Amino acid sequence: MARATLDKRPAEVAQMFDAVADRYDRMNAVMTFGQERRWRRAVAAALALRPGMRVLDLAAGTGASSLPFAAAGAVPVSCDFSPGMLAVGRRTHPDLTFVAGDALRLPFADAVFDATTISFGLRNVADVGQALAELARVTRPGGRLVILETSQPPARPLRAMNRLYTARVMPLIARVFSSDPSSYAYLAESAGEWLDQQALADALRAAGWTGVGWRDLLFGAVALHSAHKPAG
Ligand SMILES: C[S@@+](CC[C@H](N)C(=O)[O-])C[C@H]1O[C@@H](n2cnc3c(N)ncnc32)[C@H](O)[C@@H]1O
Repeated sequence: MARATLDKRPAEVAQMFDAVADRYDRMNAVMTFGQERRWRRAVAAALALRPGMRVLDLAAGTGASSLPFAAAGAVPVSCDFSPGMLAVGRRTHPDLTFVAGDALRLPFADAVFDATTISFGLRNVADVGQALAELARVTRPGGRLVILETSQPPARPLRAMNRLYTARVMPLIARVFSSDPSSYAYLAESAGEWLDQQALADALRAAGWTGVGWRDLLFGAVALHSAHKPAG
């Protein structure tokens, strides 16, 4: 199938994830050397979840990113706009609540979530500022946002290694493990184009979030940003 372009046209991005949905979880585990489970637990810890908290997991895909929230006793809502990813999620995780929705026009009322989060989804969204504003709209005053996303290692040699891994090694792994290797060419390019840690922090502040900070994972190849919605 045609791969998505870096313009990130929503229909193309959704179709691309439809095409990789079947083997997405396995591909993720291989590409991250099994690290992604640890990172997902770090997201749950950063959200400071308590039993009963309502959490929006935006761009939740097959729901793998939502599992630690349910394990912590919170009540996750797993939202995504790819019918293929949602179908795999509903089949593999029948206990999770999946909702079809676009990050740029979330199908939720204002301030209905205690916390919101997005893992490896924000860089695929066509308008990052709009998505961060929508996340702020649906978060209650004082609620927390945590973003897990690829980033740029601050140390130059590691940054070069990371670029090499993304541009050369990831497509090879995709050829073996993915149902649609061409989509991973797009994912690799979109990682290269994506904001570094400081730029994402600036985008968060511009969208009205406060208390913005981040933590590097895997030498900064991945970053975990957190912020609060002002208490009002
Ligand atoms: C790399 S997957 C991440 C899935 C999951 N969060 C995880 O960590 O495994 C990115 C997901 O973002 C979704 N996505 C991209 N743009 C979106 C948008 N505008 N609205 C909703 N979902 C979106 C895709 O459909 C895809 O399922």
